[in-house]
Amino acid sequence: MRILIVGGGGREHALAWKISRSPRKPQIWCAPGNAGIAALATCVEIAADNIPALLEFVRKQAIDLVVVGPEAALAAGIVDAFQERGVRIFGPTREAAELETSKAWCKALFRKHNIPSAGFRVFDRHDDAARYVDRTPHPVVIKADGIAAGKGVTVCRTPQESQAALAAAMKDRVFGKAGDRVVIEEFLTGEEASVLALTDGQTIAMLESAQDHKRINDGDEGPNTGGMGAYSPAPVFTDEIAATTAREIFVPLVHAMREERRPYKGVLYAGLMLTRSGPRVLEINARFGDPETQPLMVRLKTDLLDLIDAVIDGKLAQADLEWDPDPAVCVVAASGGYPGDFRKGLEIQGLDAASKVPGVHVFHAGTTAKGGKILTSGGRVLGVTATGTTHAAARDTAYRAMSAIRFDGIHFRRDIGLRAIRT
Ligand code: AMP
Ligand code: GLY
Repeated sequence: MRILIVGGGGREHALAWKISRSPRKPQIWCAPGNAGIAALATCVEIAADNIPALLEFVRKQAIDLVVVGPEAALAAGIVDAFQERGVRIFGPTREAAELETSKAWCKALFRKHNIPSAGFRVFDRHDDAARYVDRTPHPVVIKADGIAAGKGVTVCRTPQESQAALAAAMKDRVFGKAGDRVVIEEFLTGEEASVLALTDGQTIAMLESAQDHKRINDGDEGPNTGGMGAYSPAPVFTDEIAATTAREIFVPLVHAMREERRPYKGVLYAGLMLTRSGPRVLEINARFGDPETQPLMVRLKTDLLDLIDAVIDGKLAQADLEWDPDPAVCVVAASGGYPGDFRKGLEIQGLDAASKVPGVHVFHAGTTAKGGKILTSGGRVLGVTATGTTHAAARDTAYRAMSAIRFDGIHFRRDIGLRAIRT
């Protein structure tokens, strides 16, 4: 079996690792991949959203299955283009992916179908939005409508902060077109959890829970990032909350997408706030989360290829998901300055020593190989992932492995997974 994974981050490394362990012994390619993925797959220098070049590659290499990682490729219509040409591909169509690529569209869908979420207003004009925040009780949450690499959301405690966020998005256009429309949301409080579900358009199969750490610094301080670490399971996400989430969120969402004639196949990622009145959705992503996928893949026992087939063929009702009960913790090492400007091309040392720590997988995110060295090539560089019999043990192991890794300006949070231990 010949498989192409599209993308080149930590999530794709974890997916490639999991798929490489399939009893079907697949041959794997990855576009564009990274230095870590290169140990498991043949990396090809094609950008994840360069659909014509990917199509050409798939045809030439007679690829049997394409697995899409990043949202940019989904937003560019990769699934539609490949399906039209009869290529088997895992992921939602461009219209179905609007759950992620347009927050305004997604929120309107929640409202129409009574899916529990935060109250909201949508604005296309800066002056209307500016007037609204001046007369609205704070905090509020201001979100760029389009995709902004996890950085388009600002929690605003005062009208002044709101005005700054609105000016950045709508006047200075720091998110480009993605910020020309904004959603202003009610501020919810509670504990957050990320829950992913596979769906074939009819049946849902929830994965185990995870918790992301979105802010750059310890104690959830500083700006939002793509994610600085994750662990699974999230103890706050009890069986009872899981049942409510399936009943009130995932099932109605899959149903709503069918009704809207945008049947959804692939992974649905729900970012949840577990409020006192039950789980509410903060966001939907149309893909696997990064870094949540890293701990999830090391815990998943079922062959991922079987699950992907079940999703594509509409047979998820017959699938069985098995998990390693041991928790997993992933700590992200970022380049100094991220999520703002950061340097690239810094030499990474200690990767071998870190990988040798028992129970550890060092997933690469922004790395590249050059002249026998591994260099940084992105803001998030590595996801050091460890399993253990408890969250505390997994955490200790991940940090022990991290202590072996060095590059100039390395930054990682020291509190990943602590909350799982306290609860
Ligand atoms: P999102 O990308 O929509 O998940 O937002 C990023 C982060 O902003 C979330 O993980 C939350 O911490 C925070 N956030 C988003 N929406 C809300 C909300 N309505 N109330 C409180 N916090 C929120
Ligand atoms: N970790 C959040 C995301 O994948 O968007």
